[in-house]
Amino acid sequence: MKGPYLILLFAVGLLITGSLLLFLITRPNHSNVTLATNINWKELSQQPNRIYSGNVNFKIRCSDCHGMNGKGSKQAPNLTDNEWLNGNGSFESIYSIIANGSPNGLMKGWKAKLFEKDLINLTLYVHQLRSKNDTP
Ligand code: HEC
Repeated sequence: MKGPYLILLFAVGLLITGSLLLFLITRPNHSNVTLATNINWKELSQQPNRIYSGNVNFKIRCSDCHGMNGKGSKQAPNLTDNEWLNGNGSFESIYSIIANGSPNGLMKGWKAKLFEKDLINLTLYVHQLRSKNDTP
């Protein structure tokens, strides 16, 4: 009677340990949200290939609402001026909006659809748009 009981106990123990491990391994990783402060934005913003890649992605995914050059439309704000509805225009705050969406939900977040490197490159592209602003 003792043998089978011990085996059962062992099996249950294995099951619990296994499930716990599986949970730890497969639970969603939200590290790309907090990472913004660990990114060396100044250094990355000196890399023209990243701005270029951000520009390409912007034209594909963002221009419908923000316009080809980011100057905005009826649907979405101008990104080339220095006025921000959300945040302060820092790399971190732009990254956060692109990744998580706007707090009012009018723009959805892109972190589930894009690689982190693309979120970063889009941030670098949007950040440098301000210097291209040709309105007074
Ligand atoms: C469906 C339309 C739509 C698309 C597509 C879209 N946006 Fe937006 N975006 C908005 C709207 C609307 C807002 C303003 C939200 C608000 O009122 O706070 C916004 C806000 C922003 C802001 C903050 C502007 C501010 O003044 O605070 C940034 C940065 C931004 N979008 C970048 C992007 C990027 C980069 C992409 C492409 C990956 C993108 N958006 C795609 C509609 C869109």
